[in-house]
Amino acid sequence: MAEEHEAQRHPEQAEATNGAAAEPYMLEMESVSVHYGAVVALEHASLGIRRGEVVAVMGPNGAGKSTVLKAIMGLAPVSEGHVYWRDAPLTTATHEIVKHGISFVPQGRRLFTHLTIEENLEMGCPYLRDKVERRRRMDTVMDLFPVLADKRKDLASQMSGGQQQMLALGRGLMANPEVLLLDEPTLGLAPNIVASVFFNVSLISEQLGTMIMVVEHNIKGVLDIVDRAYILDNGRVVFEGTPDDVRETNILTEVFLGKVQPMDEE
Ligand SMILES: Nc1ncnc2c1ncn2[C@@H]1O[C@H](COP(=O)(O)OP(=O)(O)O)[C@@H](O)[C@H]1O
Ligand SMILES: [Mg+2]
Repeated sequence: MAEEHEAQRHPEQAEATNGAAAEPYMLEMESVSVHYGAVVALEHASLGIRRGEVVAVMGPNGAGKSTVLKAIMGLAPVSEGHVYWRDAPLTTATHEIVKHGISFVPQGRRLFTHLTIEENLEMGCPYLRDKVERRRRMDTVMDLFPVLADKRKDLASQMSGGQQQMLALGRGLMANPEVLLLDEPTLGLAPNIVASVFFNVSLISEQLGTMIMVVEHNIKGVLDIVDRAYILDNGRVVFEGTPDDVRETNILTEVFLGKVQPMDEE
C-alpha cells in the first residue's frame, strides 16, 4: 500500500449512490487493485461499510470476493489504492488490523477440531492478557449463542456443521470487533441450517451493533438480511445498491450468465 503521507481521504468517495445524505464509510476500500502474477484479482475496486450496516459482497466464482476481505485484512498483495478505517489509512499488519476492531471469519470455518468450544473461542483473542475482559467477551458470545455455553467443554469436532459455523462466528466476535468480515458462512451447510446462519448474522448486527461485510453465494438468503450489496465480476465492482435495487435489475443474471457455477444451489 502507498505511504501514509499521500493517503488523504477524498470526501467525494463517501457519497451515497442512492441520493440519500452521504454518511461516511467507517471502513472503506478505495480503488484497490490486487494482482497474483498475471491474474488480476481486483481492479480498482471501491466499496465501504457505514455505521450499523450489514453489506453483502456477491459475484461468481473467481470474481474477487475473498480477495476484497483479504485485502482489508492485509492478507492480499495490494498494488494500488488504499483501505481506510475511520478516515485513516489502515495498516497492512494483520494482527494490528484485528486490534483496530476488524475481525475476519475465513471460508471453511478453520476451527481447531481437537480443542474444546471454550478453547476455540479463546483463540479469537490470543494476545489478550486481561482475563476479566476475556471472560466478559466469552459471556457476550455465550449469551448470544447459548448452545456454545451448554457445550463449552465439548470438542469442536463433536458439533454439527451449523454449530461449528456458530462457533466460528463466536471466535470472530472474541476480538470484540467493530467490523466482522465473513467469507461464505453458509458454504457446505444443509439448506435448513443456512437459514439459521443468516439469522445469527442478523442477531450479531442487532444485538451487538457490529458492522458486517458478508461474502455469499446464496443470493436469495443474503439479500434478505443486508442493507446494501455489492456485485463483483472479474475483479471489478459492477453494481452497488439496496437489496431491492438488486432485485429490480438483471445484473445478477448478466453477471452469472454463461458461468459454469450455478448461482443459487444451496
Ligand atoms: N493466492 C492466489 N494465487 C493466485 N491466484 C489467486 C490467489 N487467490 C486468488 N487468486 C485468483 O484471484 C481471482 C479472485 O479470487 P477470489 O477472490 O478467491 O474469488 P472469489 O472469492 O470471488 O471466488 C481468481 O481468479 C483466483 O483464481
Ligand atoms: Mg471466495
